[in-house]
Amino acid sequence: MLFEGLGFFLYRSTARDGLSEPDLRDILAAARRRNARLSLTGSLHHEDGLFFQWLEGPVESVRLVVESILRDPRHRDITVLDEGGLAWRRFQDWRMRFSDREQASMLDWFARSKASTVDRGAYADGVASFLQAVAI
Ligand SMILES: Cc1cc2nc3c(=O)[nH]c(=O)nc-3n(C[C@H](O)[C@H](O)[C@H](O)COP(=O)(O)O)c2cc1C
Repeated sequence: MLFEGLGFFLYRSTARDGLSEPDLRDILAAARRRNARLSLTGSLHHEDGLFFQWLEGPVESVRLVVESILRDPRHRDITVLDEGGLAWRRFQDWRMRFSDREQASMLDWFARSKASTVDRGAYADGVASFLQAVAI
């Protein structure tokens, strides 16, 4: 465990129709509890019915929770944007940071930045950069 590598998982999904504020609070509360147990950190952004999430931590923990996330009926159309190994954590102070368009709009951010929303790799980098930019 001590020398186990870090990994990350970045995806976009569509929130279930009618997902409410209390549903969102439930998701976050449970996620933070479990992430604390599994030494996971990350950031979740919700905007226009879409979720964007970066999850990071020991590769085994990431794999375990990603399995849960993939079969969670509270969202659908999960698109993996990027995944892999990580040299250091991007969100080490956050069990799961949360933002929505009240705090910062990803759409506006993309419109202002030069990040591409067409090229898949560049889009993933843009999403990751946005998540890090809001966390500051
Ligand atoms: C958008 C979204 C993000 C989530 N993020 C996390 C997370 O960061 N950590 C986590 O443990 N569960 C997260 N969950 C909840 C999991 O899908 C799952 O409900 C929870 O981990 C319990 O897993 P289990 O149902 O396999 O026991 C998230 C769910 C959704 C819909």
